[in-house]
Amino acid sequence: MGYRVQGNEFSLYMLLASDFVLNGGVATPEQPLSISPWLLETRNVHSSQDQVRAVTIPDVDPYAMLADCQDDEGDENGNEEKKQNKFDSYFSMAAGDFAMIYGTPKEREQWDAVVCCFFLDAAPSIVEYIQIIYRMLRPGGILVNFGPLLYHWSGPAMRPDDRSFEDYQERFSYLDPRYMNSVDMSWEDVREILMNVGFDILEENPGQRALYTADRKSMMNLGYRCVNFVAKKTGDNGISRGMFDAVSDSSDLEDEDDDME
Ligand SMILES: C[S@@+](CC[C@H](N)C(=O)[O-])C[C@H]1O[C@@H](n2cnc3c(N)ncnc32)[C@H](O)[C@@H]1O
Repeated sequence: MGYRVQGNEFSLYMLLASDFVLNGGVATPEQPLSISPWLLETRNVHSSQDQVRAVTIPDVDPYAMLADCQDDEGDENGNEEKKQNKFDSYFSMAAGDFAMIYGTPKEREQWDAVVCCFFLDAAPSIVEYIQIIYRMLRPGGILVNFGPLLYHWSGPAMRPDDRSFEDYQERFSYLDPRYMNSVDMSWEDVREILMNVGFDILEENPGQRALYTADRKSMMNLGYRCVNFVAKKTGDNGISRGMFDAVSDSSDLEDEDDDME
């Protein structure tokens, strides 16, 4: 295949499931596992048969695909250890917070493409994520996005009886402050931010209908009209320069100093 790719996830539940599916040896398309995702759903059910439907996983075996790729390309000296290293470098999973991992100086201009699916709106600050993505891309690198703007960190609404902003903040002082600081922007605003950070929008397809973890047999489905866009890192308009680095250990800072000399 010739590509090197890294996934990122911070939820332990998701990571455990990814490990189970991606690392092979447990189930294959030839010997799949059966799961019943709708077994515990009691609402909006047409027929009790709907609840006991099973699906099989995995549909493809990424582990076998990567192994094939290693065999195809081989190793010029037939060196097993080298083959293993080469194989490992094709597909990795970075476990941890996106900003903490990719906001560091050592990730700067290390990537040709960033692909997000239902992810940008999971940011406490979408502006911060766009800036981080801009910095981690090489010049000419692309950001491909598909998803809605549900804003996972959207704060609670103000009420007419909140006499001041301080009242409102006090009422929700028990919340993680990221809920209070997050700003829900429209796609038009996000588009503007992308261009101000230094992206050119190459493709833009709003209104893409999508379901998410939906049961098509259910009486109720939540439907999105997502935006799909492709943006290219072109000019640096200065907004991403000198911005925060989510985490900087001392060696990273030394790297930064070196860069500036
Ligand atoms: C809405 S889901 C989308 C998952 C997948 N891309 C898909 O389309 O099914 C968002 C995912 O991002 C993960 N996530 C949210 N914030 C994150 C962060 N700061 N760092 C890494 N992963 C994060 C969540 O745990 C969740 O699995």
